[in-house]
Amino acid sequence: MEFFLVVSICFFLGLIFHSVQSDIPTNEEHASIPPRGWNTYDSFCWTVSEEEFLQSAEIVSHRLKAQGYQYVVVDYLWYRQKVPGAYVDSLGFDVIDEWGRMIPDPGRWPSSKGGKGFSEIANKVHSMGLKFGIHVMRGISTQAVNANTPILDTTKGGAYEESGQVWHAKDIGVKERACAWMTHGFMSVNTKLGAGRAFLRSLYEQYAEWGVDFVKHDCVFGDDLDINEITYVSEVLKELNRPILYSLSPGTSVTPAMAKDVSGLVNMYRITGDDWDSWRDVAAHFDVTRDFSTANMIGAKGLLGKSWPDLDMLPLGWLTDPGSNEGPHRHCNLNLDEQRTQMTLWSMAKSPLMFGGDVRKLDQATYDIITNPTLLEINSFSSNNIEFPFITSIKSLKSEDQVLALKSWRCQRDLRKSDTTLLDLIGCTDSKAIGWSFKTLDQDMEQICWRRSSGIKHQTSLCLRKRVPRLASDEETIYNKEYQGKHHLLATDRMDFCLDASPRKKLTSKEFNRDSFSPCRWDANQMWELNPNGTLVNSYSGLCATDGSVKANINSGGIRSWVATGRKGEIYIAFFNLNAQKMVISTKTSDLARVLPDRNLNWNSCKCIEVWSGKDIEITQETISLAVEIHGTALFVLNCS
Ligand SMILES: *[C@@H]1O[C@H](CO)[C@@H](O)[C@H](O)[C@H]1NC(C)=O
Repeated sequence: MEFFLVVSICFFLGLIFHSVQSDIPTNEEHASIPPRGWNTYDSFCWTVSEEEFLQSAEIVSHRLKAQGYQYVVVDYLWYRQKVPGAYVDSLGFDVIDEWGRMIPDPGRWPSSKGGKGFSEIANKVHSMGLKFGIHVMRGISTQAVNANTPILDTTKGGAYEESGQVWHAKDIGVKERACAWMTHGFMSVNTKLGAGRAFLRSLYEQYAEWGVDFVKHDCVFGDDLDINEITYVSEVLKELNRPILYSLSPGTSVTPAMAKDVSGLVNMYRITGDDWDSWRDVAAHFDVTRDFSTANMIGAKGLLGKSWPDLDMLPLGWLTDPGSNEGPHRHCNLNLDEQRTQMTLWSMAKSPLMFGGDVRKLDQATYDIITNPTLLEINSFSSNNIEFPFITSIKSLKSEDQVLALKSWRCQRDLRKSDTTLLDLIGCTDSKAIGWSFKTLDQDMEQICWRRSSGIKHQTSLCLRKRVPRLASDEETIYNKEYQGKHHLLATDRMDFCLDASPRKKLTSKEFNRDSFSPCRWDANQMWELNPNGTLVNSYSGLCATDGSVKANINSGGIRSWVATGRKGEIYIAFFNLNAQKMVISTKTSDLARVLPDRNLNWNSCKCIEVWSGKDIEITQETISLAVEIHGTALFVLNCS
């Protein structure tokens, strides 16, 4: 009788609950608008401490929360001890628990002592009115596999047993599927095994217990796709009581076709490699962003809500260098026009906005860009966002304008050399990849040189010094097994810097330049092999290096435009000038009408403002037209009655 009563009450409550649940307003869904926040990577690399993080979170809550910057995210390697010898792909410096799970390095995160993990930090972040995020890697760490730790079964609270056996890390780690950009750090787990799934579950349940609101899952997407792990993690997150946003990173070589298989499982996913503060990186986002909007991926169905193609963090303000073992120490290399272009494209494409600069040194110019109310309104609430092809341009004739603009806008540095392409990466079967050979200077120094093709004016040959990576004795066996015949290529003027196929960007744009050299380390991105046919192949991507002047420069191509509509009927039009000269860009209202939902606008009634200058713009002869600075943007807001 009692039992029956309880059951029927439960049933009744269940009904009420059910009807309440189905009424959940849309703002309860995950990522109903593109997530926004701050991430440690661009300013601290991996070296951030608890004190620095909480100090920064405090500033985010005072200065940026009101503008929707809500998530504060600890990027990679929070479990790595900051001691000599530890770097991105070093092995053996991580702190793991008895179940092989990563736990915060108590040296850098003192509040984690005594098994508390990130819970105290999450509490503090929550008390600031913010949400707490962490970066996690694919699968399981090599360190846990080497230690062969048992797997935790969270459903019963002890070691995972199946078929009369206790399962261990070695049973589930897939050595052949090491993370390509951190080969010594992490590998996939076999999700076909109950123990493999139990291990992943034990990770994410722990993150939820700590109070994590956001996970950035690395090395499972793009070139490193592991659809099984994404699918299973998504399933676990769906069942948790705690809402956790699910983000994938990076997204090297991602296409809409690949993303369609995962967008429903996650809330945001990168569509490029890492973005840093070079014009080349900004410009490399235009094509891929257009492709994703055309494929209707912006705000598509995601995990318990929506999902957003992610153009990566905003590396503005006070920064560090990719892959360096140090914190912020330099200004952004983008000039003001380039920064506005980045913010405008990111907003028009509704990318998540994660600020990457050091908020403790957030200058007014950077602050104004990342908190521009019109841009943030567009980023959160615009619709019908699409690249708009019907634009024309002519060179702006006021050349003195150009010179002045260049002089005044260049931030911190004079004209950067990095716009000059040194090398590109292309497929090794392409004959344009042939042209590398050994050149011996003396016994100790062998170089690999590029013989420039005859049609090209600058005949200076390009040579890189060859060296076997410096190995500790225990690393020699691994080197002989994995990298036999491969070498580091050093910059001639900076001997401790090696040619890196991904300027520590896990392969960004497939081009590189002077910034392509980063501190030498053990990493597939820095391993190169000269083939007998004169091609130079990179171990990470299997792509080959070629002279940058051979391939058309992505930046040389012209002008771009995006349109979108606002929630109060506004029309947003952005012009982008990717050229190295000032251009007057124009569009006709009749062409705009082709892509707008309301085709019968009374254009004469429109009030038009350009956002960055704050100027009123007149629509004359049914044309919207404006001179746009080098690498700059113009953003029009039209209010038509
Ligand atoms: C050069 O040799 C490599 C390795 O044998 C091969 O993969 C590549 O296709 C060759 N490239 C050309 C252009 O012949």
